[in-house]
This record gives sequence, structure tokens and C-alpha cells, in this order.
Amino acid sequence: MRVRASAPGKAILVGEHFVVEGSPAIAVALDVRAHVTVERIEENIVKVISRELGEATYGEHEEEDRLYPVYIAAREVVQRSGEPTGLKITVESDIPPGAGMGSSAAVAVATVAATAKLLGLTLTPDEVAQSALAAEVVVHGKPSGIDPTVSSYGGAILFKKGDKPKRINADFDQIRLVLADSGIQRSTGKLVSKVLETKKKFPGILEPLYRSATELVEKTREALENGDFATVGELMNINHGLLSALGVSNAKLEELVYAAREAGALGSKITGAGGGGMVLALCWKEDAESVCQRLRGLAARIIVTPVSDKGIAYTLEN
Ligand code: MEV
Repeated sequence: MRVRASAPGKAILVGEHFVVEGSPAIAVALDVRAHVTVERIEENIVKVISRELGEATYGEHEEEDRLYPVYIAAREVVQRSGEPTGLKITVESDIPPGAGMGSSAAVAVATVAATAKLLGLTLTPDEVAQSALAAEVVVHGKPSGIDPTVSSYGGAILFKKGDKPKRINADFDQIRLVLADSGIQRSTGKLVSKVLETKKKFPGILEPLYRSATELVEKTREALENGDFATVGELMNINHGLLSALGVSNAKLEELVYAAREAGALGSKITGAGGGGMVLALCWKEDAESVCQRLRGLAARIIVTPVSDKGIAYTLEN
């Protein structure tokens, strides 16, 4: 038997980086997904085949290459089941990697979900996110857990480390997210460490920003629940300023952020770790095309997506 599971990529609306140190943040699932198929094999090894990244085999030797986190995600589930088994894992992801869209988390979540179903384990979305987090630690070093959580649940999530994630009741039907890729590759782990070092160096200056981010996230939640997207956009712009102060912006990201605002976005900001990757613009459905047009010559790639309610999804195959 083979099990195929999929999980969505994400965008952080407000609160990235601050969330690593215990402030809340809000993330939404996107209509762009990673698909993972898992089947048993006779040999006691884990074979990972990725459409995007090639192939690797684990179990005999454990080289920490780019597909290693997929193996770790599956291994977490096999250990939980207490039943050693060989696996073949096939990964197909439509989420651009290393761009702030939670591609590694979505692959890990889909791997955990498919492996668990294959081995007859029933896991809650929280349990899937917990197991996927082990893979995220390999990729990012000190992740908050927000990426695998929103990918497991779908929809819009208020996340705070150590608390149960809360689903935000908001109607995104008239909203489109425009993601503009700066084309600059970066490492989330390195950016997270850089921000933490700056905070250690200037605690008196940065701690007020963390308090400010906490209030900003609370206000964004209220605005989302009231359908007040103009205020959500305004708060996203303020959040971008806080992220610039943390040192994770650059000239290219600023260019994309301001171009999106000038073209009619409700708000725009870095999303994810910054330093490169994607800029997120919140738009009314009818304004998304003119925002895209303005960004076309400036961005390496543009993705337009609604917020998706769908978290983990399964297909069973024989
Ligand atoms: C990653 O999508 C966002 C960061 O806040 C890191 C994390 O929360 O794990 C930068």
C-alpha cells in the first residue's frame, strides 16, 4: 500500500522573528502545496526521492544532506510506532524552497502525516507538527514551530510557543496574497541567530520592539476577526518597520515592499526570515493584478494565492 499526503506552504502575516523569543505571531496557509508518497520496502533503509532535489538513502550511513530532514521526519514516526520498517518516500513540492514560504515545514508535515497513516498511527495536527519540528530543527536550528503548525492546521493561526495554537475566524474570500521573490537565497537559521545576537547586544533597545510586536499581533487578530483588512494592512506595514529595525531587510526587499504599496496593496512586508526570499503583499482580489504588474520587472518570480483552509490532506493508493 502507498499513502500520499499533502500539506500547504505558509505566509506569516505578522510576528516573525519575535515569535522565536515567545511573542505571538499570525500565519496563514497558502494554496501552494507539498506532496509526499510513502510506501514500505523490504530492505531496512529509508530511500528519499525528490522531484526537485534528487535522491538519497539513509539508515546505513547518515549524511546530513538536503534531503536528510525528510528522513528525520519519517524516522520520528517510525520510532513512535515502535515498529522498524524500510520506507520509500517520494517528494513533489510546488513551494519554492528557501523563500520564506515554509517549504521545508510543509514537506516535513506531509512526510509525517503519510508515514503515520501508512503505519496505522492516528496523530492530531499538533502531534504531526511536533514530529515535523524535529526535521525543522535540522534545517533551521532554533525554529519556533509556527511553520509546521500552520501547515498541519491550514487556515489562519495565532501561534505562541508553548500554547495551544488558536484558529482565527476570518473571512479571506475577497483577499489575495501576492508574494514577490527577491531572488536572494538566504538561511533562516543564520538570520534567526543574527537577530538573537543583536537582541543580546542591545537588550534595552530591542526588548521594547518585542513588546510592540506582541501588541501589534493582538491588534491584527482583532482586525482579522472584524474583517477590517485595511487595518491589517496598516499593521503589516508597521511590522515591516520593526523587522527592518531587527536588521533583516535590504535594498531589494524595500524596493519590492514600497512598489507593492504604491500599486495599491493594503499592506506589504517581509515574510519569514527576511534577508532575501519573499515579500508579502495583502491585496483586495480586484487589485491583485495591478500589484503583480507593478512587481513584474522587479521580482524574480511572483505567486498569487488565496489563503487556504486546507491543512493536511490524504489520498490512499493501492
Ligand atoms: C520562519 O518562517 C519565521 C521565523 O520567525 C523563524 C521561526 O519562527 O521558526 C524567522
